[in-house]
Amino acid sequence: MNDVIRAMRAHRSVRAYTDEPIPHEAVVAAVEAGQAAATSSAVQAYCVIRVTDRQHRSRLAELTGPQEKVAVAPEFFIICGDSRRHRLLAERAGERYEQKLEAFLVSVIDATLCAQNMVLAFESMGYGTCYIGGLRNHLAEVDRLLGLPHGVYPLYGLCVGRPAQDPGLRPRLPIGGVLFQDAYPQDDDLLESVAAYDAVYEQYLRERGATNPGGWSAAMAGKFASVTRPDIADYYRSKGAVLD
Ligand SMILES: Cc1cc2nc3c(=O)[nH]c(=O)nc-3n(C[C@H](O)[C@H](O)[C@H](O)COP(=O)(O)O)c2cc1C
Repeated sequence: MNDVIRAMRAHRSVRAYTDEPIPHEAVVAAVEAGQAAATSSAVQAYCVIRVTDRQHRSRLAELTGPQEKVAVAPEFFIICGDSRRHRLLAERAGERYEQKLEAFLVSVIDATLCAQNMVLAFESMGYGTCYIGGLRNHLAEVDRLLGLPHGVYPLYGLCVGRPAQDPGLRPRLPIGGVLFQDAYPQDDDLLESVAAYDAVYEQYLRERGATNPGGWSAAMAGKFASVTRPDIADYYRSKGAVLD
């Protein structure tokens, strides 16, 4: 264990913040830390949009849920996949821009490595963060609101602020449930590693006021029973992403 690992293991999503503004230098430090993450062949296929316009923040709070924290967090960022500068460079050089699913995946991976480095950087400065997947509820409207050009597509949001709550650590699967050696386990062994976790997870939810919360297994079984956000492929295609 060292300080970096301790900091990583102290992560918990924070959903309530004080009004304390975040200095511009702290934002720059965090985004530069994000940029320092590895990136596939250095393509850096992402951008980060810092949303400060109050009206946009209020509308985004509605579109993401509603999730009030999107309106009130001291900082809110939109993490985007970004192939625009690659297209422009290709056009300027008289090259074709020919890509398939691989380019979309690269942008999602690159953007996410950057975002998670940002999260760690903010947390190392004492801030709390919460990713906002709810941004994908109404992608086309988010896109229109921000006037995003072709080749730039939002993936998720990120709220940041000084914590006004201490939600505690959400337990994870036991290490044996995710770290496998040389081969993938048999289904029975896989499910066995989940069984003990169910009780721990249920207890975590109960301590936070849930009545009859059920375990992680039940939550996951329900979560994937119906299609979530069925229209997002159409949106990403409309922005130039090729998904096959
Ligand atoms: C990509 C992504 C999207 C998320 N979207 C939301 C969201 O829209 N609203 C929210 O309150 N939490 C959101 N979360 C936070 C997760 O619920 C949280 O990370 C998870 O329950 C684990 O808890 P922890 O971060 O406290 O360890 C998101 C997390 C990720 C990684």
